[in-house]
Amino acid sequence: RQFNILGISGSLRRNSFNRHILKAATEMSEDHVTIHTYDLSVLPLFNGDLETGGDPEVVNAFKHALTESDGLFIVTPEYHQGMPGVLKNAIDWAGSDANHNVLKNLPAAVTGASPTMLGTAFSQQQVKQSLTAAGSLVMQKPSVFISFANQKIGENGDITDEDTSARVKSSLRSFTKWIDDKGK
Ligand code: FNR
Repeated sequence: RQFNILGISGSLRRNSFNRHILKAATEMSEDHVTIHTYDLSVLPLFNGDLETGGDPEVVNAFKHALTESDGLFIVTPEYHQGMPGVLKNAIDWAGSDANHNVLKNLPAAVTGASPTMLGTAFSQQQVKQSLTAAGSLVMQKPSVFISFANQKIGENGDITDEDTSARVKSSLRSFTKWIDDKGK
């Protein structure tokens, strides 16, 4: 079967390690897997007042992309031992019950890269917790913490570390299995 996955990066930075990994994932995914990416920078700050009478158009477009997908694949940095505000903002919009919570029952997988040793472990834990609170079906294993990312991603954004490439590839394979198991 075909898998249509929506990929988002928790970093908006042009030369972001996480953006590079998301791009590499889209390129290395198998033929039956398509990863469309969505840029979170277009979303306004969450404000319950903006949900009155329907969501803003850009939020609608983001939520529509999630509804059309079989799963959500997140690649995120860690800021101050937590998830970036832009990512939490996106989760809050998508998972709000005011209009339609599009995270509910949506399979989700989380990975992330950082130049430090812990490789976004704290951040990923928070992301998984918030997604679970919104009703997503979060894949817990395998965990992919990409530490020392500055040594594993080249100047042009390619993953230069074979083990990292293999782990991203294998986590995508696990994710499609997870989607199959969870029945979306
Ligand atoms: C960081 N960084 C960071 N790294 C980490 O491993 N744990 C942390 O708690 C933090 N905290 C933190 C806070 C803030 C405000 C910034 C800007 C950065 C470093 C971070 O991992 C590094 O900047 C990455 O390069 C960010 O990811 P992208 O943008 O390269 O994808």
